[in-house]
Amino acid sequence: MIQARNVNKYFYVPQELHALKDASLEVAAGEVVVIIGPSGSGKSTFLRCLNRLEYADSGEILIDGEDLLDPRAEINRLRAETGMVFQSFNLFPHKTVLENLVMAQISVRKRSRKEAEAKSMELLQRVGIGEKFGVYPEQLSGGQQQRVAIARSLAMDPKVMLFDEPTSALDPEMVGEVLDVMKDLAREGMTMVVVTHEMGFAREVADRVVFMDHGVVLEEAAPGPFFSAPSHERTIAFLKQIL
Ligand SMILES: Nc1ncnc2c1ncn2[C@@H]1O[C@H](COP(=O)(O)OP(=O)(O)OP(=O)(O)O)[C@@H](O)[C@H]1O
Ligand SMILES: [Mg+2]
Repeated sequence: MIQARNVNKYFYVPQELHALKDASLEVAAGEVVVIIGPSGSGKSTFLRCLNRLEYADSGEILIDGEDLLDPRAEINRLRAETGMVFQSFNLFPHKTVLENLVMAQISVRKRSRKEAEAKSMELLQRVGIGEKFGVYPEQLSGGQQQRVAIARSLAMDPKVMLFDEPTSALDPEMVGEVLDVMKDLAREGMTMVVVTHEMGFAREVADRVVFMDHGVVLEEAAPGPFFSAPSHERTIAFLKQIL
């Protein structure tokens, strides 16, 4: 489903930085991959390259066989194939929950309003907040807002869901409800790439854990071997800090 090969990304401001160094990642349909690594190691940059919020400088990225780096690609449609959920929710504050879900379905997926609303209501039920369709984001808890954000991404029928620290901004008692929605998604066979510090989630749900350091994908393994017998010094040192 995802084939990223030798992806390189440079930033030039405030100074030159080689943020991704030949980063490669293959994710099969239905697989869940968790990415971990120190702050600044390039985790967010890599995710952002996977739906072209950042344009990789070189390498190859295929999503279900489609070339994401093709300059002629229909970018809004391609981007809709890879739903992205951020730490900071990014809901439209002046739109109701329902409208947050409806808008892109009409503009990008070309659905009728009626169709988009029906789909939205079904997804809000699925993430456990069906009754909140008429309120504004600020009237919701953080956990509820994040579930709206997940539902909004799902409304585009993505082939892949990318999560960038989706629970890091939440109060501890709300982390579980968001992780539960993500676990359901994984069980239903969604292809997912998740940057997270929730090692319980990684152990329980991930098919593979990937460790990044200084823009490099340093190692990857199934959670069992990854946590019990990491092979790199840097991975061992990092796990010591966070576990
Ligand atoms: N738009 C940008 N312009 C310049 N530098 C950037 C930009 N985005 C990221 N960087 C730099 O690229 C490097 C990788 O950043 P990135 O956000 O991908 O790290 P991360 O692994 O997600 O870190 P964290 O765990 O803190 O979220 C960092 O040194 C960061 O400062
Ligand atoms: Mg990040």
